[in-house]
Amino acid sequence: MANETVSAAVKSALAGVEIPGGGNLADYGGLSDIIVTSGAIAFAISVAPGMEAAFGPARTAAQAATEQVAEGRKVMVSLTADRAPPSAAKPAATRPPPVQREPVKGIRHILAVGSGKGGVGKSTVSVNLALAFAAEGLKVGILDADLYGPSIPRLLGLEGQPAVREDGIFSPHEAHGLKAVSIGSMLTANQAVVWRGPMATSALRQLLRETDWGGLDLLVVDLPPGTGDIQISLVQQVPLAGAVIVSTPQDLALIDACKAIDMLARTNVPILGLVENMSYFIAPDTGARYDIFGHGGAKAAAAAQNLPFLGEIPLVMSIRETSDAGKPVVASNPGGPEAAAFRAIAASILAEHPDFRP
Ligand SMILES: Nc1ncnc2c1ncn2[C@@H]1O[C@H](COP(=O)(O)OP(=O)(O)OP(=O)(O)O)[C@@H](O)[C@H]1O
Ligand SMILES: [Mg+2]
Repeated sequence: MANETVSAAVKSALAGVEIPGGGNLADYGGLSDIIVTSGAIAFAISVAPGMEAAFGPARTAAQAATEQVAEGRKVMVSLTADRAPPSAAKPAATRPPPVQREPVKGIRHILAVGSGKGGVGKSTVSVNLALAFAAEGLKVGILDADLYGPSIPRLLGLEGQPAVREDGIFSPHEAHGLKAVSIGSMLTANQAVVWRGPMATSALRQLLRETDWGGLDLLVVDLPPGTGDIQISLVQQVPLAGAVIVSTPQDLALIDACKAIDMLARTNVPILGLVENMSYFIAPDTGARYDIFGHGGAKAAAAAQNLPFLGEIPLVMSIRETSDAGKPVVASNPGGPEAAAFRAIAASILAEHPDFRP
């Protein structure tokens, strides 16, 4: 069935799901848009704070009813209560109880790549670093946790939706020797999803735990910018082997990087170190090097924070062009100087963490 038809079928199926207080889910004001792609169906049910438990059976029934009409699509139903009740005394009191940090089946170590600021090259670094680890002989996967602006499908040239197994588990894409999962592969071009906090948390959990990773030494997680819901939910959900912080040399980026470091440090995530991206410019015509961005800022910031400095990546057209073409530079030109820069960073992480190796 076409996606629109399935969407209508889901809606009628939900009409048969009773909700607390009477009525059915299809008519319920807290039902989000129903997103249907050829591989997945997603929607959220938002309820008044404190009503999560009461709505639990409706969520389960909604999941089952939707699966009946899903024609093999993966169904993601999230239940959210994202406003604190007005009477709540302290925000801390309304926070959900801490989730047990449980390892993900089939993954030995999880490494997050973050920054405080957007656009500094986290995704570029995540992908190329993942490839550099793979070149060292590790089995590596990449998870695009940037639900708001997924870029891994473009960077790795992923096409189509991930396969979904009979039991509803995703089979990740495979690209350049990496296993890759991104919400971006499940959306059509220009389809924006407005994730509210708890919905993002539950989508992240599903991408992470309902994927057949098939035995990885290392999963690299590409985080969205900042220190928001997704970062917090990741550190609450899984034990992280560490985080790599990416910054450009500019002061503002470095200030934001320090905020990200601070947040991770407070949640006891080990910071593996800082990477300076767009560290210096190499002129494409002459090959001359220019330190136009105040190169060295991240190294100084790392020293000031007593953190390892992992290395610098130049600003070069080839990095942008290969990324745009879905052929990241470490895979497309493994012998080149750009690949060497990423491999040096991977090597320095592995020198500190030989346990990441198989
Ligand atoms: N070293 C580099 N040399 C040239 N271009 C780069 C380099 N690093 C990143 N870019 C380019 O800069 C842009 C932003 O990079 P990227 O998407 O990796 O950043 P990000 O931090 O993940 O962004 P966001 O915060 O939006 O997730 C992209 O167009 C990318 O190709
Ligand atoms: Mg990104």
